[in-house]
Amino acid sequence: MKRLDTILSLIHSSVGVADVGTDHGIVPVTLALNGYSGNLYATDVHAPPLEAARRQAEKNGVAAKIRFLLTDGLDGIDPSQIDSIVIAGLGGDVICSIVDRAEWTMDSAYELLLQPMTKAEILRFWLCNNGYEIRKEHLVEENGRLFRILSVRFSGQNTPMTDGELYLGKPELMQSRNLFGKLLQQEKKRMEKKVNGLLVSEKNEEAAFFRQILDDFTGIEEKWEPWKGKC
Ligand SMILES: C[S@@+](CC[C@H](N)C(=O)[O-])C[C@H]1O[C@@H](n2cnc3c(N)ncnc32)[C@H](O)[C@@H]1O
Repeated sequence: MKRLDTILSLIHSSVGVADVGTDHGIVPVTLALNGYSGNLYATDVHAPPLEAARRQAEKNGVAAKIRFLLTDGLDGIDPSQIDSIVIAGLGGDVICSIVDRAEWTMDSAYELLLQPMTKAEILRFWLCNNGYEIRKEHLVEENGRLFRILSVRFSGQNTPMTDGELYLGKPELMQSRNLFGKLLQQEKKRMEKKVNGLLVSEKNEEAAFFRQILDDFTGIEEKWEPWKGKC
């Protein structure tokens, strides 16, 4: 799986890794199989996926290397045992609430790899207004769908982002430049559809709000004109 392979390639941890919402357990099991020697936590809020992860680890002979926690988000994790946090495949709003509850992540010692399935704009808004710095963004295409992976650390500084950047990410942080053009076109179409739907329902004020975000997309596209040929 390209998405999880990319996340795995971005983990630069020596102390330990927590995979929140582990489900199938691919992240901790692969790390253990690859000889990762730090601490490994697999957490899930539901028992059946956590048991599936445990079975996967047992099948691969690495269950003893992983701590399985039936818990909400990062609750119950000893912060001194990890330096990397993976939260992948959840909604951006859920990721916000998980990070928000774990105040100890407000420390530059922790790297957070966040892969929202939806509501990436809510996640970016929350991060950039709560002192978390989005250091890099990666795009991965899997089965025709684009996934965003945000590499984040607490810096204590808020970062201004335009509305368009909240939806697309800051272009200068984008590591997957060849996919950025595709994301831009995809988000433009989605936003145009939204604006037209609101106009048809005579929700003119809301339509004007999203029209302004669409204009912001155009500004970003123009600013990054040199990329056009490469996308
Ligand atoms: C779609 S799966 C994603 C699995 C894997 N992380 C991936 O990216 O392929 C989402 C998993 O997150 C779990 N989950 C949802 N909310 C959670 C929370 N607040 N804390 C921990 N796990 C959660 C679900 O039970 C489910 O197993």
